[in-house]
Amino acid sequence: MGSGEPCMIAARPGPVQDSAMRVLGIESSCDETGVAVYDTGIGGAAGLRAHAVYSQIALHAEYGGVVPELASRDHVRKLLPLIRQTLAEAGLSTADIDGVAYTAGPGLVGALLVGAGVARALAWALGLPAIGVHHMEGHLLAPLMEDDPPAAPFVALLVSGGHTQLVAVDAIGRYRLLGETLDDAAGEAFDKTAKMMGLPYPGGPQLAKLAETGTPGVFRFARPMTDRPGVDFSFSGLKTQVLLAWRGSDQSDATRADIARGFEDAVVDTLAIKCARALDAAGCNTLVVAGGVGANRRLRAKLQAMAETRGGRVCFPRPALCTDNGAMIAFAGALRLQAGQHDDASVRVAPRWDMASLPAV
Ligand code: KG4
Ligand code: ZN
Repeated sequence: MGSGEPCMIAARPGPVQDSAMRVLGIESSCDETGVAVYDTGIGGAAGLRAHAVYSQIALHAEYGGVVPELASRDHVRKLLPLIRQTLAEAGLSTADIDGVAYTAGPGLVGALLVGAGVARALAWALGLPAIGVHHMEGHLLAPLMEDDPPAAPFVALLVSGGHTQLVAVDAIGRYRLLGETLDDAAGEAFDKTAKMMGLPYPGGPQLAKLAETGTPGVFRFARPMTDRPGVDFSFSGLKTQVLLAWRGSDQSDATRADIARGFEDAVVDTLAIKCARALDAAGCNTLVVAGGVGANRRLRAKLQAMAETRGGRVCFPRPALCTDNGAMIAFAGALRLQAGQHDDASVRVAPRWDMASLPAV
């Protein structure tokens, strides 16, 4: 929810669930339908019994971006088959599920309502507790699904198509925003820059792939807002710099790759500088990285090197769990359901929702 708006989603405390739970997770906030089953009795990476993601990339490609109404309709088509497929892969039936978690926001309202409606209906029919999960909390907790998870306190870098945030995690559910982007998100900058240079939608991963073949240093772009204190970001000026460089170039394939490399290096350096500052500010040495841009190879290597230099630790989810997926929703929901939290039976979503307003776990 935006600041000043009433909170529509208020997880209600209930009896703490001591026993293990198998939680069905449903993600439908944007252009990916994700379903997973996470089993807290197994825990760790093996606790993820099955997960499946259906991407709508092909559907939106001809429009160069996500068309909300088409996204909602496609979630309607794909969600139930994907739930059946995921349960079958896990070797489970609906009778084996102990709770349902779904993305309640932030995201596209119609897309969110599809997931929430299906999740709520399932929970009601099966007599199960269900909880609406904050999409960014899902991303943030995804690295904790891997083996040898970090313990709070830590700093989280959330880098997706809609968010670029540095968050101090004092405990699970207790989040303090340290800094965020003042304009474009890092993923959005990747996508827009790619589009400018004629790469097909969605451009971020394509631009990163192209950067692999580019020569570093041929194009050097600014590291925005690193020349002043603070951990906020701004990526829209960088995008303009790239546009000017591209327009003034020979626009050959080699130049496109060199520009892609220059752009990627600028974003990666900027993120790494701000992460180091955020760790200093929070007085800790563990960094957790999540969100689609967390799949970027050069970012992973740079942050790994930064953490090693400090004698600290950086934790990422596997690349498939960086981008949108149902596993992170099943896992985040499982932690809250186990703590006895759940929502009432009405279908409610929060297209805008401040993570700091979440209850502690
Ligand atoms: O977390 P996510 O799947 O969806 C949102 O919640 O936004 O993130 C998608 C974003 C897109 O902007 C996409 O271009 C970017 O993550 N992305 C990448 C890479 N893979 C995905 N950006 C840079 N390098 C990548 N390898
Ligand atoms: Zn996301």
